[in-house]
Amino acid sequence: MCGIFGYMGPKQASPILVEGLRKLEYRGYDSSGIAIKNGDFKIYKKIGKVAELQSILPKQIPGNVGIAHTRWATHGGVTDPNAHPHLSENGKVVIVHNGIIENARIFRSILTRKGVVFHSETDSEVISHILEYELARDNSPTKALRRTLSKLVGTWGLCAIFLEHDVMVCARNGSPLIIGQGDGETFVSSDPHALSTHTQRVVFMEDGDIATLTHDNITMSNIHGHSLDTDVTILEEEWEEAVLGDFEHYMLKEIYEQPDALRQCINGRFDRVRGNGRLGGLKLTPLELSKLPHVRLLGCGTANHAAEIGGFLIESLARIPSFAHISSEFRTNEPVINPNALHFAVSQSGETADTLSAVKEILLKGGKVHGVINVVGSSIARLCGQGVYIHSGPEQAVASTKAFSNMVTALTIFAIQVGRSRTLSKEKGKEIIDNLQQLPHLIEEYLEHQGPIMEAVDLVKHAKCVLFLGRGISAPVAKEGALKLMEVAYIPCLAYPAGEMKHGPIALLEEGSPVIFVVPNDHVKEKSRSAIHECRARGAKIILIHEAGDDISGEGDINIPIPQVNNYLSPMLSVIPLQLIAYHTALALGCDVDRPRNLAKSVTVE
Ligand code: AGP
Repeated sequence: MCGIFGYMGPKQASPILVEGLRKLEYRGYDSSGIAIKNGDFKIYKKIGKVAELQSILPKQIPGNVGIAHTRWATHGGVTDPNAHPHLSENGKVVIVHNGIIENARIFRSILTRKGVVFHSETDSEVISHILEYELARDNSPTKALRRTLSKLVGTWGLCAIFLEHDVMVCARNGSPLIIGQGDGETFVSSDPHALSTHTQRVVFMEDGDIATLTHDNITMSNIHGHSLDTDVTILEEEWEEAVLGDFEHYMLKEIYEQPDALRQCINGRFDRVRGNGRLGGLKLTPLELSKLPHVRLLGCGTANHAAEIGGFLIESLARIPSFAHISSEFRTNEPVINPNALHFAVSQSGETADTLSAVKEILLKGGKVHGVINVVGSSIARLCGQGVYIHSGPEQAVASTKAFSNMVTALTIFAIQVGRSRTLSKEKGKEIIDNLQQLPHLIEEYLEHQGPIMEAVDLVKHAKCVLFLGRGISAPVAKEGALKLMEVAYIPCLAYPAGEMKHGPIALLEEGSPVIFVVPNDHVKEKSRSAIHECRARGAKIILIHEAGDDISGEGDINIPIPQVNNYLSPMLSVIPLQLIAYHTALALGCDVDRPRNLAKSVTVE
């Protein structure tokens, strides 16, 4: 998604900005640009990768103040002029903006009538022109920004610098922005991890905040003109810069990181003696837990699939009705919120706008939300104020892999903990904990013996459509496999609970249609076997993910064994061959595995 990086200080801004942009790259974007103040503004913009922007930059661009941006197109196509930064009419103000200005069209026509010439099709460009116009009124950048924002409807993470003022002003409303305080230098970024090589001292901006930066000072206020304390916090978890090492792509690296990521997630989070989870972030008393009317889990994409599995586990182990909801649907469908219920917001980035809005909706209606989040200090994590970090480490590939496993793992520990305060026995709790502790080894065992993945790739790579089927806890795994293949290899995929196949999707099957079945050795295995037969009878070719040595092996045309695993924990293993099929199919088709077209790592617009 769009990214912002800004710098003011004694050093040359240009290399710092380019480096900042490189760190934002993983979030997904289609163009980038920088503006450096030096007499006037030197602005460079280019579609494509940051490397392509670098190729047009002069060797040196003198200047100690600058802003930079990675754009993910919303309004206006992917073109050089539409890339940010955007310069104002008289060249006195330059801005970068994340978010959407909903009333931009009105201002475009007003400003056009006043003679302003627009150089892009973006909604963002109006901000630079309005800001310049407002600045002319009293020559105060902060006040001008405040008046500008009061005219705008929409969302923003916004940063502006001025030709005639040595300040940078920043504003946040619905799109993250973090200020960094160095020694005699200040930074701004939309992602805390782009700041961590420069400083650990940061100010997380909240919606409605305005920050006015000089090279050695940060002044906070809000949109109404009230001063605020500059609340400097220390970045809690410093992620080392992700490096590819021996891997060709981040997606493959992150698939292989799953055993260690899982160890990080479970480390110190069990009370084995009591057969219980030990998640300090579950802020409910045993009495409150015993009275829970229901549990709701919210997420998008992969996080939603993890939430579905979490819901299944909570209902099975804690015997509480549990439902997973797609965040974007939930918040607009006028949900009834029960303040006694338990809500989980599941998100890798912690910045997904749809999930963030759903959390706000729940809080507004008196509900409580626990976060299940990877990025420490992210907007959703801070808004929930309770919950658990999943500790996957940085996930760079757009396709989420290791975060999925850790979301499911964290929710499994929650399920044990909620279950133990209700009906789950100590023995059952212990059994699941012991099996969870074995899981990293099982994943390693599978990664050493992956089975005929490449045969599966040959079957799906030219398919018109691939059908993914699973039942019970494996139904969301099938959905996750379909999402992975679709997003990195651009193959139309359909995922269904296996029992639903005969109610419609079966019409798609013809001679040679690939169908991927996820069938661990659980209580619904025989039902899945019947569905396999129904597909085969119609000429489909079956790729079967099954437990090694199980009597269902051999039912597929291509059989991919995973190690035997506890029924409640099968998703963390059965998803891995699906991730590998997606990865290798994308490679076989020459797709950009880590940066699939049109997608962004973190979707900060609704
Ligand atoms: C996963 O592979 C996707 N790229 C996407 O569906 C993602 O899971 C979704 O956008 C939610 O992101 P989040 O976990 O950061 O909230």
